[in-house]
Amino acid sequence: MRFADKTIFVTGGAGFIGSAVVRHLLDDTGARVVNIDKLTYAANLASIPQAGGHPRYAFAQADICDGPALRRLFETYAPDAVMNLAAESHVDRSIDGPGAFIHTNIVGTFTLLQEALRHWRGLPQERAAAFRLLHVSTDEVYGSLGSEDLFTETTPYAPNSPYSASKASSDHLVRAWRETYGLPTLVTNCSNNYGPYHFPEKLIPHMILKGLAGETLPVYGDGQNVRDWLYVEDHARALTLVVEHGRVGETYNVGGRNERTNLAVVETICDLLDRDAPQPAGPHRRLISFVTDRPGHDRRYAIDATKLETELGWRAQESFETGIDKTVRWYLENRAWWQAILERGYQAKRIGVVAR
Ligand SMILES: NC(=O)c1ccc[n+]([C@@H]2O[C@H](COP(=O)([O-])OP(=O)(O)OC[C@H]3O[C@@H](n4cnc5c(N)ncnc54)[C@H](O)[C@@H]3O)[C@@H](O)[C@H]2O)c1
Repeated sequence: MRFADKTIFVTGGAGFIGSAVVRHLLDDTGARVVNIDKLTYAANLASIPQAGGHPRYAFAQADICDGPALRRLFETYAPDAVMNLAAESHVDRSIDGPGAFIHTNIVGTFTLLQEALRHWRGLPQERAAAFRLLHVSTDEVYGSLGSEDLFTETTPYAPNSPYSASKASSDHLVRAWRETYGLPTLVTNCSNNYGPYHFPEKLIPHMILKGLAGETLPVYGDGQNVRDWLYVEDHARALTLVVEHGRVGETYNVGGRNERTNLAVVETICDLLDRDAPQPAGPHRRLISFVTDRPGHDRRYAIDATKLETELGWRAQESFETGIDKTVRWYLENRAWWQAILERGYQAKRIGVVAR
C-alpha cells in the first residue's frame, strides 16, 4: 500500500486542489493525513465527505504564517512529508488586494519552510533521508506565451500579476531552502485546474452556475485567451507521485495537454447545459457577453509535461471533453454544496478591474 504508516501534512487541504489531494490520499493510499488550513473564504470542509470519523484523518485550523502553531503540529504528528497547497489563489482578488497574497504565499511559505527545516533536522537519519516537502505552484509564474511554444521546467520566470509574482517568490524560497540548507524539497508548476468542489468564483464553476440561473455569461476581453485545462483528480495523482518518486530539488510541470480558448470553454459549458438543463428561453450561448479584459491578462499558458510523463509515468486520465462533462454533471447533482456557498454571502460580481 502506498504511504503505509506515513504521515503527510496537506496545507490548504480544505481548498479546491488540497481537498482533492486529501480525498485521493484517504481513498487510494495508506497515508495518515493532517489537513492544516486557516479556513479562509475559499475553504470548505464539506469537500472531504469521507473525513468524518476517518481513522487516518486529522484536521487542524492553523495559519501557515503562524510559526508556533506549525511547530506544535510538527511536534505532535512528526510528518514524513509536507504538501504545501495553502495559498491565496484568485488572480482577480490579487489585483484588488495584493497584501493577503504577499502574506500567505510568501511569508507563509517562508514560515512553513523554517518549521519543516527544524523538524527535518531533528529526524533520525533514515527518516530525514526519506522526508519530502512538495511546494505546489502554478504555470502563471512563467508569464504569457506566444501562439506556438510551451512552458518547460527551464522557462524563465516572468510573473505578471500580484498572484503569480507571490507564487514565483515562494518557489524561489523553496529552491533556496534546498540549496542552502539541504531541505529535501520539490516544486510542481501546474496549469489551470477544474473539476468537482471548485469555488464558484473561478471561470468554469462561475459559468456553470450563471448559466443554470439564466444570467449573463461574462467573457473577459475577446475570449481568445488560452489556458491548458487539467482535471483536478489528475493533478492530485501527479502530486502524490512526485512526493513518492520525484527527484529531490527538481521541478515538475503538470498539464493536461488540453488547450482551449476561454470562449471555447464557455461555449462547451453552454452546450452541456443545453443537454442536461435546457432553458425554454433558448440555447445558453445566447447569454454570452464580452466584458472589459482583466488588466495584465496573460494571453496563453500551455504546459509541456514530458518530464513528469517520462520520469514518473504520469498521464492525465481525463481529456477536456470527458472532464468537463463530469464537472457539469457534478454541479447539477451537488447543488447543496454550492448553494451553501452562495447562501454564505458569496456574490458573483466583477472584481479585479483597475482604472489606469
Ligand atoms: N486552481 C488552479 O487552477 C491552480 C493551478 C496551479 C496551481 N495552483 C496552486 O495550487 C494551490 C491550491 O490551489 P487551490 O485552487 O486549491 O486554492 P483554493 O483557494 O481553492 O484553496 C486554498 C486553501 O488554502 C487555505 N489557506 C489560505 N491561506 C492560508 C493560510 N495562511 N494558512 C493556511 N491555509 C490557508 C484556504 O483556506 C483554502 O482552503 C495553490 O498554491 C495554487 O497557487 C492552483
